[in-house]
Amino acid sequence: MNDDQKKQGSDNGKENGAAASENILTTRQGHPVTDNQNLRTVGNRGPATLENYQFLEKISHFDRERIPERVVHARGAGAHGYFEAYGTVGNEPVSKYTRAKLFQEKGKRTPVFVRFSSVIHGGHSPETLRDPRGFATKFYTEDGNWDLVGNNLKVFFIRDAVKFPDLVHSFKPDPVTNRQEGQRIFDFISNTPEAMHMITFLFSPWGIPANYRQMQGSGVNTYKWINKEGTGVLVKYHWEPKQDIKNLTQAQAEEVQGKNFNHATQDLYEAIERGEFPEWELCLQIMSDDEHPELDFDPLDDTKLWPPDQFPFLPVGKMVLDRNPVNYFAEVEQVAFGTGVLVDGLDFSDDKMLQGRTFSYSDTQRHRVGTNYLQLPINAPKTHVATNQRDGQMAYHQDMVPGTNPHVNYEPSSLGGLKEATKSGKDHEPEYHAKLVRQKIDRTNDFKQAGERFRMFEDWERDDLILNLVNTLAPAEKHIREKMVEQFSKCDEDYGRRVKEGLEKASAAIEPGPIGSTQSGEGVRQAEEEGTKAKPY
Ligand code: HEM
Repeated sequence: MNDDQKKQGSDNGKENGAAASENILTTRQGHPVTDNQNLRTVGNRGPATLENYQFLEKISHFDRERIPERVVHARGAGAHGYFEAYGTVGNEPVSKYTRAKLFQEKGKRTPVFVRFSSVIHGGHSPETLRDPRGFATKFYTEDGNWDLVGNNLKVFFIRDAVKFPDLVHSFKPDPVTNRQEGQRIFDFISNTPEAMHMITFLFSPWGIPANYRQMQGSGVNTYKWINKEGTGVLVKYHWEPKQDIKNLTQAQAEEVQGKNFNHATQDLYEAIERGEFPEWELCLQIMSDDEHPELDFDPLDDTKLWPPDQFPFLPVGKMVLDRNPVNYFAEVEQVAFGTGVLVDGLDFSDDKMLQGRTFSYSDTQRHRVGTNYLQLPINAPKTHVATNQRDGQMAYHQDMVPGTNPHVNYEPSSLGGLKEATKSGKDHEPEYHAKLVRQKIDRTNDFKQAGERFRMFEDWERDDLILNLVNTLAPAEKHIREKMVEQFSKCDEDYGRRVKEGLEKASAAIEPGPIGSTQSGEGVRQAEEEGTKAKPY
């Protein structure tokens, strides 16, 4: 309840006489409820009457308690905290690269709200499923909100936004059987070679982080930082946890899931209640704003890592989560993040995924939460908001400043309406000379980094990867299995060979099931507790 609501509540109470005492149950109309146990009926055996406003209000509100789930990332947990800037990027002053105010001063704190999530299944699905994890942060800055909407893994399946609905459909349950099926996933992936890098992460223990506190986060897409002169550089954002990184093998995940399907939500909530506040350092990778023909990949391709030896991780600040939500629905469910939500000094790159994402988030939120979703306390900036946007469903107040003319909801005006702000630096004005086309990027290089990752894994990670791939791929039709083996072999010969051999041994009778699952009982591997810790990459 915000201060306004508290005030309104107590004012209403005073006027209501009988309900003046704060703990008296009322309807939303403020009528005291004198019987909350019995419907009004003709005799005590019924039938019930329909004029019972108190009952109708209660039940019809209940009928509308749910809003649509997020179409992806429905299962989540969140927490409040703060971001503290270092004032530098590596050894340089941050102002060399950005004029964004939240980064400038060492020790400057900005309040944040973070929502962690898993992607594919519904709002109460187990938190042990093999899935990327969302890591979305809302910074309530003095210049308005900045949302950094990232995942735990640093790369993604696809590089073109037009493919996103197909990708998600292939991972969601089959529209006929309502079961997630490896055959459908690998049917899509075998025709989407750019996904091999992400698949290599996802089917390894990195596809099941042990909890939300012990995982990394990444903006994945490429953004820009803009300085006072209007000069831009390309940047990638990474959250590095101060409490280690821990992942689960499939066998460990199944064990956790058998006992607790809310373990990650519980872990985050309880750690914060104990005063063990999780922390992450925000690191930046920087590249000059051009096409970098010297690289064997395109810097805007989100299926690729920028090699950290060439583009080091430069710390710019840290984040601490120190407060649990008071109400899950009001905060965690209704929070709305979007990649278009940037502040002065931060900008988009030409990354075509990013542009598709930027349309999608606010579009879905107008449908999921409602037209005025930005007026909800969790989404509203904690700074001056003054627009000429008016009305719409659930308009809670007018975005206007006291003292401005309430008759003027347009601009320009000489009758005392809102005025444009002054610029804080030069505009960033990239130039474009190109044909309008529908084409893939030139440097696709779909397999190299996936092969490098396979070789970089530790033995136990590689073993788990092969096991999970085999278990998920085995029930697929022969031509899909063969196409996938061909793709794994293009990443690394040994990778392809091991999946092929695994598939040959796997029982033909393996039942389709959740991805990576060992429900067939084949070769469940008891990984040791030690084996779950991982090194940052
Ligand atoms: C074109 C590609 C993509 C599209 C169209 C897309 C679309 C969406 C949509 C519609 C939602 C639901 C939002 C809501 O209901 O509030 C969502 C949530 C989310 N997406 Fe994406 N997404 C894309 C790619 C990505 C990528 C690459 C990442 C990781 C960097 C990502 C991270 C997230 C996260 C973390 C959430 C959950 C936010 C929350 O906690 O509320 N998405 N996405």
